[in-house]
This record gives sequence, structure tokens and C-alpha cells, in this order.
Amino acid sequence: MYRFFVSVLFLFIKDPETAHKLALFFLKIVGLFPFSQLTAFVAKTQKLELQQRVFGVNFPNPVGLAAGLDKDGGSAKGLESLGFGFLELGTVTKYPQDGNPRQRIFRFDSDRALVNRMGFNNKGAGALSRRLAHLKMNIPVGISIGKSKRTELEDAAADYRFSLERLYDHGDYFAINVSSPNTPGLRELQDKKFLVEIVSMMNEFRDAQKVRKPLLVKIAPDLSYEAIDEVLKVCEDGKIDGIIAVNTTVARLGVSRAATETAGGLSGEPIKKRATEIISYIHSKKPNMPIIGVGGIFTAEDAYEKIKAGASLLQVYTGFIYEGPLIARAINEGLAVFLKRDGYKSISEAVGKNKSS
Ligand SMILES: Cc1cc2nc3c(=O)[nH]c(=O)nc-3n(C[C@H](O)[C@H](O)[C@H](O)COP(=O)(O)O)c2cc1C
Repeated sequence: MYRFFVSVLFLFIKDPETAHKLALFFLKIVGLFPFSQLTAFVAKTQKLELQQRVFGVNFPNPVGLAAGLDKDGGSAKGLESLGFGFLELGTVTKYPQDGNPRQRIFRFDSDRALVNRMGFNNKGAGALSRRLAHLKMNIPVGISIGKSKRTELEDAAADYRFSLERLYDHGDYFAINVSSPNTPGLRELQDKKFLVEIVSMMNEFRDAQKVRKPLLVKIAPDLSYEAIDEVLKVCEDGKIDGIIAVNTTVARLGVSRAATETAGGLSGEPIKKRATEIISYIHSKKPNMPIIGVGGIFTAEDAYEKIKAGASLLQVYTGFIYEGPLIARAINEGLAVFLKRDGYKSISEAVGKNKSS
């Protein structure tokens, strides 16, 4: 049904960004009315075994929406009603910015993939803060923070700190995004010398607050294991509360020629395996570091694989676009079946169980 609807939609709309905007607009309307309670009733899976407390935050289920879809939080209430366990809004930057010229999202159906080069189009940290101040959310909200395009790499730490300050009261956790491929130089911020400074500036602010909120770092799938080791060391030293693995890739292994020839970050099925490998690696090195697993999750099987590899929480983006608005419910229902089948009483018991199974 959803696939049929999407095929018809794409007969009229050629640019996927227009389709995404239309969907977000629809969700914004849904979120305005009390009938979002009704859609929540349809989409929500309320199962005790899916609930978890991770880095001090209570999650009703492990399936979150990944950063980038609702950058400015305009459709947060509507997205909440689709049964997600949490949302990650953003990425936002200190300064509002338009991002790259359109067309900047590309669908590759035969690869089950997207390529995007959005370049952090967003209304800025201040605008998101004002929006969230009026919003009563019933699920945890993470906020992804990035560097403004106009800010030099050397000044990046202050730029990140600015956004954290603006948004601190409105997020349940904060993601330090140093891994998007579409802001020139951004991924260099994963290097130790920059990351140490960003983390310490953010900690300086956090330590001065009454409430300690979790800070996470989101990494690229293109990092070598040595580079991941270095990031993990900085994270541990800087009391980072979790890792989000992974962002989109600049690699183009095993995809169609059309996808190979399109510049930007690749997501979906082609990054699934690498994302899972990185999650396994991080979990084996730092078993106590919570991981949000993201990359190529379309089904409950994909989700369970990431949990068994070591992810406590999950996020979807490309899967949401391909599978449709009820993806969170479908994954949650499937996860509950797998947990029962394998004799686990809760999600947390299954996290990282690949090694022994
Ligand atoms: C169109 C698009 C925009 C994205 N924007 C962001 C972003 O602003 N910040 C971010 O951290 N990740 C962003 N991502 C990456 C996703 O959050 C996610 O890490 C990645 O797509 C892998 O997950 P997936 O295979 O489920 O899509 C974006 C992805 C897509 C497809």
C-alpha cells in the first residue's frame, strides 16, 4: 500500500526532497490535532520488554528517528505519533544556513539507498530552541549539533558550545555531529586535536549546569579501526555518554553506477554491514559504552542484528523513506517476537549477545 502510494507520488514529483517536505508537512498537520493520539494508538507498541534506561534516559522502545529528517523540529509531534521510541532532531548549527543547492537528495531504488548532499540546511540553534520551548514531547528528544559552514575548523568548538547552550534545556541528549560528509572539513573534527577541544568546551558548559545531560558523538563509517580507537579514547577521557554509529559514507562499494557517480553521503542497505561491524568493534572494545546503531535498518531482523552486535538503541532514516510511516511499529513488533523466541526478558539482555550465540 505504502509502496504503491510512493510510486504514484514519484510519477508527479521528481525531486525526493519535495516528497520528504510534503510528508513532513503532512506530519506537522497531524501533530497539530488531538487525533495524533489516535495515530499513536495505531502505531505505538507498548511492551515492557522494549523499554530501557540508557545513559540515564528512559526510552519506551529502542527505535528512534535518525538525525537529518526533521532538522528544525517542525514535525516532531507528528513523528512522535508514529511510534518512535525517540527522535533525534537537527543537525542544527549556530548560524541558520541554506545548505547546498538543490537537487541534493537522490533515491536509488535498486540499491535500497539514498545519496544526499544537504549540507546542514537549518534555521539555526536559536530557532530550534524557540520551537522546542513550546512543544510538550512524550518521548525523549535528542538534538544533533554541527558546525556552521562559515565557521573555521579552528573555531569549531565554540560554535558547538553555542548551540549546546541554546538548546540545553530542551534536549534529553545531545549528539556531537562530526561525521557528515557534506560540510567541507567537518569530518576532520573526528581527529583527536579537534575532538578533544570540542568535547572539553561542551563539558565546561555541562559541568556548570544543575542537570547533567548526556553527550554523544556520531562517527562516520569511513573511519579506520585505529581512528575509531582514538575517538573512543577521547570519548572516554571526556566522559562522553555514548556513540552513534554511523553516519552516511563517502565510499561506493557494491552499488549501481548511478549511485557511484552521485556525490554525497550514501545511506541505506549498502552501509548496513559496515555499520554492524563498527558497532561490534566498539562494543568489543568498550562494552560499557552505550551505542545507538544506525545504518541500513529496514526490518526487525536488521534491527535485531544491530542489537546483538552491541547497540542498545537504534535509528532509521533511509528505512523510514522506503518502508513507510509504520516502520517503527513493524520493527518493535518483530523485536518482541525475537526476544521471546531467544528467551530474553528485555532488550538490554540481548545487547551484544552475538559473541556468545
Ligand atoms: C537526506 C539525509 C539527511 C541527513 N542529515 C543528517 C544530519 O543532518 N545529521 C546527521 O547526523 N545525519 C544525517 N543523516 C544521516 C542519518 O542520520 C543516518 O546516520 C544515515 O542515513 C544512516 O542511516 P540509514 O541507513 O538508516 O539512512 C542524513 C541522512 C539522509 C539520508
